Amino acid sequence: MTQFSLSRLGLAAVGLTFAMTALAADPRPAFTPPSAASLPDTEFGKIVRQGEQIFLHTPQMAGKFVGNDLNCASCHLDAGRRPDSAPMWAAYVLYPAYRAKNQHVNTLAERLQGCFRFSMNGKAPAADDPTLTALQTYMFWLASKAPTGVVLEGQGYRKLPAPAQKADYVRGSEVYAQYCAVCHGAEGQGQKQGKHWVFPALWGPDSFNWGAGMHQIGNAAGFIKANMPLGQAGMLNDQEAWDVAYFMNAHERPQDPRYAGSVAATRAKYHDSDDSLYGIEVNGHLLGSDSPAPGGKLIQAAAKPAG
Ligand code: HEC
Ligand code: HEC
Repeated sequence: MTQFSLSRLGLAAVGLTFAMTALAADPRPAFTPPSAASLPDTEFGKIVRQGEQIFLHTPQMAGKFVGNDLNCASCHLDAGRRPDSAPMWAAYVLYPAYRAKNQHVNTLAERLQGCFRFSMNGKAPAADDPTLTALQTYMFWLASKAPTGVVLEGQGYRKLPAPAQKADYVRGSEVYAQYCAVCHGAEGQGQKQGKHWVFPALWGPDSFNWGAGMHQIGNAAGFIKANMPLGQAGMLNDQEAWDVAYFMNAHERPQDPRYAGSVAATRAKYHDSDDSLYGIEVNGHLLGSDSPAPGGKLIQAAAKPAG
């Protein structure tokens, strides 16, 4: 009798585990973007290629809108194809979308304008600028045959569970020295070969600004866990990813272009969350109080006397 009910209990437990596994499984459909070889040799195909080139070589191809030396592909790897690196095929089918960041429904063009203003520390192209048309054409093509309005597997950056221990600057600096500095430089400044950047800056004047999504610790931790160190992704455990994301985002970078008169006011208006260290004192320094002006090399170029 006892044995009977025990085995029934066991069966029930198996059933429960099964149901929970099914619930926990990712219901997001998988998607594979078309191969480069399938791109048609047409006028349309020409603009797709142009969009891909802008995505890969943004300062060279869209310099008048870019204030740093990042490319779109610095944060959206494999030319915006790689899952868990906010791939463009998954983004395309989710717009227009409501965004808490600016509290209204954003068209895809407006979303891309934000990338130029914040991630590229630059200037937003007009919504009908050929740069945005080419980028959207490239994204549309990458999303060929994807369902509209569906969150696909690999969309966005990974959301890591909250860290077991609060993210920590000192532990993060150790992860950084061991796994990141070799490419991104001891001071997060990146590395150039001649005039060409080979490894992008993570903080300082050549990086994304305080308004960019990557300055949020959660976004950075998810990106880093899934994609860094480049070529060896998956090496860091979650805690290490949180710690190094905290460390990276506890350094100065160009000012938030929405600056509201003081660091405190800007924090209250745009950064009032644990996810942002803007306006927080770390190691005796108030982050945001010593930021270079936004716009980077765009404003430097404008300040140069003509001729
Ligand atoms: C410094 C890293 C960085 C760079 C450079 C960057 N992005 Fe992003 N991008 C992000 C982050 C982080 C997010 C998501 C977080 C957020 O902002 O809400 C994002 C989100 C996006 C999304 C929305 C994704 C989705 O699934 O909704 C699109 C589209 C996008 N970026 C396009 C671009 C384009 C085009 C460029 C180049 C002009 C660019 N990004 C440059 C970091 C970057
Ligand atoms: C082998 C060299 C290498 C190592 C090691 C490496 N990265 Fe990167 N990282 C890159 C390259 C290259 C890119 C740009 C991606 C591309 O162009 O394909 C990048 C992009 C990034 C970006 C987004 C772009 C930017 O500049 O903000 C972040 C954030 C980042 N890495 C963080 C890290 C962290 C944190 C570590 C250590 C855990 C790390 N990386 C280790 C080469 C490296």
